[in-house]
Amino acid sequence: MGLMNKQQKPQLLSKIATGNGHGEDSPYFDGWKAYDENPFHPTNNPNGVIQMGLAENQLTSDLVEDWVMSNPEASICTPEGVYDFKAISNFQDYHGLPEFRNAVAKFMGKTRGNRVTFDPDRIVMSGGATGAHEVTAFCLADPGDAFLVPTPYYPGFDRDLRWRTGVQLLPVICESSNNFKLTKQALETALNKAKQDNIRVKGLLITNPSNPLGTVMDRTTLRTTLTFINENRIHLICDEIYAATVFGHPPFTSIAEIIEQDTDIECDRDLVHIVYSLSKDMGFPGFRVGIIYSYNDAVVNCARKMSSFGLVSTQTQYLLAAMLADEAFVERFLGESAKRLGQRYRVFTGGLSKVGIKCLQSSGGLFVWMDLRHLLKEKTFDSEMELWRMIIHEVKINVSPGSSFHCSEPGWFRVCYANMDDRAVQVSLQRIRAFVLQNVEVKVPEKRPCWQSNLRLSFKTRRFDDIMMSPHSPMPQSPLVKATT
Ligand SMILES: Cc1ncc(COP(=O)(O)O)c(C=O)c1O
Repeated sequence: MGLMNKQQKPQLLSKIATGNGHGEDSPYFDGWKAYDENPFHPTNNPNGVIQMGLAENQLTSDLVEDWVMSNPEASICTPEGVYDFKAISNFQDYHGLPEFRNAVAKFMGKTRGNRVTFDPDRIVMSGGATGAHEVTAFCLADPGDAFLVPTPYYPGFDRDLRWRTGVQLLPVICESSNNFKLTKQALETALNKAKQDNIRVKGLLITNPSNPLGTVMDRTTLRTTLTFINENRIHLICDEIYAATVFGHPPFTSIAEIIEQDTDIECDRDLVHIVYSLSKDMGFPGFRVGIIYSYNDAVVNCARKMSSFGLVSTQTQYLLAAMLADEAFVERFLGESAKRLGQRYRVFTGGLSKVGIKCLQSSGGLFVWMDLRHLLKEKTFDSEMELWRMIIHEVKINVSPGSSFHCSEPGWFRVCYANMDDRAVQVSLQRIRAFVLQNVEVKVPEKRPCWQSNLRLSFKTRRFDDIMMSPHSPMPQSPLVKATT
């Protein structure tokens, strides 16, 4: 073999392997790294970073633990369940266990208030909603094709729908002036722009309830959306993985309800697909249970074949089939989960409002969309990043900046509140309050002697830690903070 110069050198790895389509180098993931390097612990590391960038639902794990203890036969690695071990560990049909599909279909109905039913034969498994999105994209679009996505949207979509499929995502710009509501005009503007750029749009991807907003789409918006995709003959993918996280008003309306009940609007069901998962509603992201529910037979068939690449383990299917079929448990779980999420939302937003921080009014999700526009030095994304870095490094809270969600306006941050216990929430609130105080500038009234003209009492020179630890701090001293000193 002769010597090759650099230009002739064959590329050993694929473009996917050598590119950065995964999107790991975004602030969304950087914040996680900051947390990983210095994680908060109430006693072992009380000054560590509090993870508020993770949309996890840990408020109801005690209920699940109780159920598992009371139903030992559902786990095949227990004396009570081991008799099914052989059959379950051998099962490998990509349709999944029939009892699993039945139970999931029922659960999907239940989480939508039993106002609609779901056909178990349309339930296709995948590795979480992550896998479900990719499979759906593979079924609906070719490389270079695009999906429209209302902003702000979940950053993982850039990886899940684009990375390996070669599909593009085009933003539909939604703004704070109408609480980020999706409008017909915004949809048309995005579609027209794609046409001008010669990009073939194959679908629209909505997330309802929204991540990061925590808001739910009202019926009128869902109807507008359905009419829009029908008129333009493009697909509608509805990510409904936060369906059962809704705790307040307005309630959640599934796209399934619109297509089944609103018969006055034209709707080709072949264009509608729901992505679901048990990661948020049940708090099981580790089980990797994703669902593609398509009204299109060809998509169901193709997706089912593709699901071979990301099946849910039969052990997990078996356990969940039993758990979700327990109607009394599901009823109690969903009620309690909504109650606890609502309480947490009120505590957290109430704490923020005491220091003048507002959040977008929402009724679901595992997070709030916090408005820190008033703390920006300038109305720019650079200022947003500067503020975000201060929050990570000084306040030591990992929140996610709006820019990582493709938000069109700087100054918004997503803050997750359901992945921690009550004490950690109090510490985070305490730190946020201290941070806000540090940045408050007390302006002197207009009428003053000229020698005072530049006088501003500012806390900015005080270090954040000084305010936190000061005996004169207006913060109630948490026992956790005291324990550190
Ligand atoms: C809107 C949305 N879709 C999909 C996912 C991925 O979920 P899963 O853990 O089921 O893959 C997430 C996770 O945060 C999400 O917020």
